[in-house]
Amino acid sequence: MKPGRSSLLAPLVGLLSVANGISLEVSSLDSIKSVTSTLAYDMMTYYSGNQTGQTPGILPGPCESTACYYWWEAGAMFGSLINYWQYTGDDSYNPVVSQALAFQIGPDENYNPPNQSKNMGVDDQAFWAFSALDAAEANFPEAGGDIPSWIALAQAVFNFQQDLWDDATCGGGMRWQVYSFNAGYNLKNTISNGGNFQIAARLAYYTGNQSYADWAIKMWDWMEGSPLFQTQDGNLYIWDNTDTNNNCTDVAHYAWTYNYGTMLMGAAYLYNYTDGDPLWEQRVMSILKGAELLFFPQEYGGNIMTEFQCEPAANCNNDQSSFKAYLSRWMAVTTLLVPSTYDMIMPRLTASAAAAAQQCTGGNNGRMCGRRWYSNFDGSSGVGQQMQALSVIGATTIHAGIAPKSVKTGGTSKQDPDAGNDAASSPVKPPSAITTADKAGAGILTVLCICIIVGGSMWIIL
Ligand SMILES: *[C@@H]1O[C@H](CO)[C@@H](O)[C@H](O)[C@H]1NC(C)=O
Ligand SMILES: *[C@@H]1O[C@H](CO)[C@@H](O)[C@H](O)[C@H]1NC(C)=O
Ligand SMILES: *[C@@H]1O[C@H](CO)[C@@H](O)[C@H](O)[C@H]1NC(C)=O
Ligand SMILES: *[C@@H]1O[C@H](CO)[C@@H](O)[C@H](O)[C@H]1NC(C)=O
Ligand SMILES: *[C@@H]1O[C@H](CO)[C@@H](O)[C@H](O)[C@H]1NC(C)=O
Repeated sequence: MKPGRSSLLAPLVGLLSVANGISLEVSSLDSIKSVTSTLAYDMMTYYSGNQTGQTPGILPGPCESTACYYWWEAGAMFGSLINYWQYTGDDSYNPVVSQALAFQIGPDENYNPPNQSKNMGVDDQAFWAFSALDAAEANFPEAGGDIPSWIALAQAVFNFQQDLWDDATCGGGMRWQVYSFNAGYNLKNTISNGGNFQIAARLAYYTGNQSYADWAIKMWDWMEGSPLFQTQDGNLYIWDNTDTNNNCTDVAHYAWTYNYGTMLMGAAYLYNYTDGDPLWEQRVMSILKGAELLFFPQEYGGNIMTEFQCEPAANCNNDQSSFKAYLSRWMAVTTLLVPSTYDMIMPRLTASAAAAAQQCTGGNNGRMCGRRWYSNFDGSSGVGQQMQALSVIGATTIHAGIAPKSVKTGGTSKQDPDAGNDAASSPVKPPSAITTADKAGAGILTVLCICIIVGGSMWIIL
């Protein structure tokens, strides 16, 4: 009997689905380890900072072109690799991570390196501080030598940012940019203030020092009283930024996963730090409910994380293409710090992980990930796309054994509450090396981004 057409084709189809893309079994730890190992490898093909003659800690840039990554995203990437090590036990990247986190500290030991001044935001520093906190909370090996400890680095960033509190406008909060000559200095945005809130909350948790918790509460209260937070029809909306030029009387109505994520994370640490204060549990729940409403749309089944502001329109920039990584990682930690959230969070991480994996079928190697987890490969690839898939798939392995450590539960990173305080550089004193061309470049970029985002978001406000 001659084989029919379909029986000839069938084995070919089978082969193709193995050769093309990655195959994930979400309930199998071995499968998760193998898939995340591939994703981490492919992510790190973008990084050459550990090679001879390159600068450790920097992704391709500078950002006058489109194929570039700002400094903060590299900092965030190293944190995702610390979590990867915790999720899987694979320590292959630990030396690269350690080298990068140590190299970018800057002369004042507070993640404010002069090379980055022309774009230096409170949020940019926060992402490097988050990675230092990830390292401390994981007992990630210290860099050693005269490099400050991981927790001291986070304390140094906290100390630096304390001086940026600005009562002169909007009744408080922090401006986005550290230096007044940078575009965006007029804005007070959620990721900067919420990033500082998260740092303070995590320092309170790690050190047990109430001063950090007091600061986090002060920040929360300011944000809650500002237009960045809005409650409507019983739902909490966390908007992106407000403008000091009109004393923060209006707000830019767009919603991003990482803004919800950073508030969720800070609130979860404070819930745990206060040994279960119901007020913080209620805040955790309201952020989660808001996130679920916006970022897990029913039209894609209700469990698949979606950056709805830019994925459907295919106009996410490189920053935005990484945001779901942070919400994924932070939701996973929330299940440990606030155990009552587990049943709400886990089904969404699991469904998102499966969805993320099935679309990693692109690029030259046939297994690069795009941004849209709710569809087939969308044709985009980059560090953020890889990091998002790596993070959400890894996050499904979350378990009590990797709960963030503190001094009470075996954290060994050595505290220095005064870290960075003898720093020479004042946050308000601009460095001199900025050229007019640099300023213009940064300004144009910011204006472009804001136009696109505002346009893309109109439909949710109306
Ligand atoms: C740089 O890091 C990669 C892992 O991302 C590793 O494979 C490579 O050997 C490292 N190169 C050097 C020169 O250390
Ligand atoms: C700053 O830039 C210079 C010149 O590119 C480089 O040699 C140096 O290593 C950079 N420092 C940091 C901390 O990135
Ligand atoms: C600016 O806003 C703050 C906080 O809402 C308020 O206390 C202050 O009076 C306002 N200042 C001006 C000049 O309107
Ligand atoms: C607690 O934190 C505050 C704020 O940084 C600091 O001034 C104080 O020295 C710390 N206390 C201890 C005991 O570390
Ligand atoms: C705080 O987090 C730890 C570690 O995950 C957990 O064991 C503990 O139950 C949490 N505390 C509360 C009050 O939920």
